[in-house]
Amino acid sequence: MTKLSHAFRSPKLPSVSDGVAIVTGASSGIGLATAAALVHHQGTNFHVIGSTRDPAKVIDPIPGVEYLQLDLEQPDSIARFCEQVLERGTPSVLVNNAGESQSGPLEELPREALERLMQVNVIGHVDVTQRLLPAMRNAGRGRIVMVGSMLGSFPLAYRSSYVASKAAIKGFAFASRRELRPFGIGMMAMEPGSINTGLSSRRTKYVDEKGVYGREFFTMLRKLDRNESMGITPERVADVILEAILDERPKPLYATGSAASVAFPFSRIVPEETMHWIINKKHGL
Ligand SMILES: NC(=O)c1ccc[n+]([C@@H]2O[C@H](COP(=O)([O-])OP(=O)(O)OC[C@H]3O[C@@H](n4cnc5c(N)ncnc54)[C@H](OP(=O)(O)O)[C@@H]3O)[C@@H](O)[C@H]2O)c1
Repeated sequence: MTKLSHAFRSPKLPSVSDGVAIVTGASSGIGLATAAALVHHQGTNFHVIGSTRDPAKVIDPIPGVEYLQLDLEQPDSIARFCEQVLERGTPSVLVNNAGESQSGPLEELPREALERLMQVNVIGHVDVTQRLLPAMRNAGRGRIVMVGSMLGSFPLAYRSSYVASKAAIKGFAFASRRELRPFGIGMMAMEPGSINTGLSSRRTKYVDEKGVYGREFFTMLRKLDRNESMGITPERVADVILEAILDERPKPLYATGSAASVAFPFSRIVPEETMHWIINKKHGL
């Protein structure tokens, strides 16, 4: 078994330790902690660029991080952001982290909310990646981390749009991984579990409170918010993202929080419905 897993190990890729490192959504939470980790890590010399929709409003800017404007909802903003990045030098690291946390019963999700979520959590990241890839490819090295969520692997009721967006970004990462490997580029998915970033207060919610789903929705939401407030720190997630970036054999998937080291192996030996039952039970359903 050990020999078998060794034979299928991810191949070695050229390492990255300098050049332009981009972290989207670097104004708070996981993105802020990742930008800080990239600036402070000994032995690397990245020019770290962090994105935010409004650089003037970053509450706690990290010295050494250059903040550039990016709104993933706006294709023009994406194009401008990538042009500015490329003016600074060759990108060697891209952490597609920015995201919206959306919740609501499938039946009640408005079309415009769905379209915005898919644009911000999926298409926007793919657009940024496509624009920066040619420079990375020409340089013959790079690392791209798509920040998904453990919910992309372990679906939760009343989060279908978010779950779908995170499963989609993992799909882009997994499938394009082999395409990019010959060019020295490591493509990875990172799935955080419950992380205490204050994301709960920024979550978008679409539900008819008095409707047929209202009661169960709020039961789930109370548990979800509680799990997040008791989650691990964003710094611990940043450590794993940094480990992924510096790994000379980048793996397809990294995960941390919510007992990830137990949940993934366990999910491979029990039927799918058992995992669904556990996740929903953990959220009061
Ligand atoms: N916290 C968790 O428990 C958890 C668990 C699993 C996965 N994740 C994922 O981890 C990532 C970071 O989450 P977090 O908890 O650190 O959240 P956060 O603290 O709310 O940070 C989200 C970041 O995304 C940016 N952002 C939001 N909407 C944007 C848009 N339309 N265009 C560009 N940037 C936008 C925000 O920047 P500005 O507001 O400054 O523009 C902010 O920097 C997300 O992809 C999230 O889905 C989080």
